[in-house]
Amino acid sequence: MELLINNKKHTVEPYKDESLLSVLRNHLDLTGSKYGCGEGMCGACTVLVNGAAVRSCVTKAENAAGKNITTIEGLEKNGRLHAVQQAFLNVDVFQCAYCASGMIMSAVSLLEKNPKPSDEEIIRSMQGNICRCGTYPRIIKAIQQAST
Ligand code: FES
Repeated sequence: MELLINNKKHTVEPYKDESLLSVLRNHLDLTGSKYGCGEGMCGACTVLVNGAAVRSCVTKAENAAGKNITTIEGLEKNGRLHAVQQAFLNVDVFQCAYCASGMIMSAVSLLEKNPKPSDEEIIRSMQGNICRCGTYPRIIKAIQQAST
């Protein structure tokens, strides 16, 4: 099976029903996407598929074939971090950072659809991403900063 990830084609042989997250981490060593709940509930595994934020732990790899997959590793361009990555650093969002890549991918998806979201729109859009450290106020601030 061929997967297009971060604008690069990869040939992989997933086992039956293997998740996209497992293929990314275990076949391709793209370990930025994290395994949290494994049930589509925490957002740690979020990647973009054709621009939409999806939970890669509950997405079968075969269903992502032929689509444009972006992971956290694919956001940097020409040595420059994506505006959302930079804003998360500027605001010093992270504590443990386990949720970080999923948060950032969800925020990138939000800003691509809605470049100037209100606080309420940010909260609504990000509610599927859980941060056990409770850094939500800083996450909102970083997304606001990236949207300016
Ligand atoms: Fe995929 Fe939690 S690990 S949503």
